[in-house]
Amino acid sequence: MKFSILSLRVAAAGLGLTVSAYAGVVDQSATNTPITYAKQVSRLVQANCESCHRPGQIAPFSLTNYRQVKAWSKMIKEVVQNKRMPPWHADKGVGHAFGNDRSMTDEEIETLVSWIDGGMPLGDEADLPEKIQYSSDWRIGEPDMVFEMPEEYVVEPIGVVPYQYFTTETNFTEDKWITMSECRPGNAKVVHHIIIFVRDPKDSGASLATSEGGQGFFDAYAPGSEAMMLKPGSARKIPAGASLVWQMHYSPTGKREADRSQFAIKFADGPIDTQVTTTEAINTGFEIPARANNHRVEAELTFSKGATIFSLSPHMHYRGKAFEYSLVYPDGREDKLLQISNYDFGWQTTYELAEPVHVPTGTTMKCVAHFDNSEANPYNPQPGKSVRWGDQTWEEMMIGFFHLSWDKDAQQAKAQPEAEGTL
Ligand code: HEC
Repeated sequence: MKFSILSLRVAAAGLGLTVSAYAGVVDQSATNTPITYAKQVSRLVQANCESCHRPGQIAPFSLTNYRQVKAWSKMIKEVVQNKRMPPWHADKGVGHAFGNDRSMTDEEIETLVSWIDGGMPLGDEADLPEKIQYSSDWRIGEPDMVFEMPEEYVVEPIGVVPYQYFTTETNFTEDKWITMSECRPGNAKVVHHIIIFVRDPKDSGASLATSEGGQGFFDAYAPGSEAMMLKPGSARKIPAGASLVWQMHYSPTGKREADRSQFAIKFADGPIDTQVTTTEAINTGFEIPARANNHRVEAELTFSKGATIFSLSPHMHYRGKAFEYSLVYPDGREDKLLQISNYDFGWQTTYELAEPVHVPTGTTMKCVAHFDNSEANPYNPQPGKSVRWGDQTWEEMMIGFFHLSWDKDAQQAKAQPEAEGTL
């Protein structure tokens, strides 16, 4: 459920790529110059794979040099041709464009595959791009503050672990504006998800969500999700005196495991004109019949005031099959934002609209999910049973999160951000 309005730009800057160097990849292949690792493939892999395929990141092996890319070439050819890598699940040609679209163009795929088929020449080492220097193993770069769970939690080898909640005080004496944040599991083997809620002391009595979604949502980690990186001028607020509530979902591994996860933030270092928050269209009342292979569930939310929508994070569990978001305007016009025909629970992606969409009061966000509860779904834990809403992964969820700024907040968020933390 992470999102970053301009993560591509941030990532590209971090990778030290220039647009012209990158465009050269395509030009070269078009003019039949032999494709080499040094010239083209190294740059392609840097731009499309290295963010995950390097030490300390989520992919199980690194692709940061010639030897590694060559060693994995057979599998690389297969996964790029069938578009399993880079992972990206939005349907092409439907809905809006997304700024963080990870997919490669057909030309890029062709370049990579021709190089593999052509015997994988290294080429002239002088053509190699600069190695990327990572300033930190946090995706957001060096954080201003890192919070830690107040204690280590031990997950027993077997059994069901209900969501665990922990609270950390921020000790902030004034409102803080956060432009980037990142949750990091202490033990990725057992941490299934982390959701960070912000509890504002002024909202005493407000019920904290005990299920995903709900009030105070700030940031989340789930397999495949990225750090939250907002564009300059946009930030999320952590109010003075707020506490952080950690909702931890652990899945036992068969061994005793301990976890102490972390949550890192970066403060805004310029003026803020856009306050970003999260809301959702949610349906908790469905029941998916046993063996149904295309069960439809809908949820909607009507905007009580105007808003600008930045990004979308669909959420279902193992039976999730397809998901779409559409806007229905007050005049009846419908605009499809996102369609995912091949939802993958393993990738909790946030889809960042390349162009944020402004909606007037009275617009409705309509989300439609389809679930496959049949035995044809290889991830289905219990095809013979009907399933309802529930926290655990073998139960189901139907949430269309979206990240937005409300029109009135755009005017109100004029606070001067702090450069430094106060802890
Ligand atoms: C957003 C992160 C991410 C990016 C970007 C990414 N990968 Fe992966 N890759 C993973 C993860 C995680 C796995 C292991 C789990 C899986 O297979 O889904 C993986 C697995 C693989 C595998 C093993 C295949 C398999 O069946 O598990 C190959 C080969 C691969 N990636 C190649 C690539 C190539 C080539 C690129 C760039 C063109 C790339 N990946 C980009 C995260 C990423």
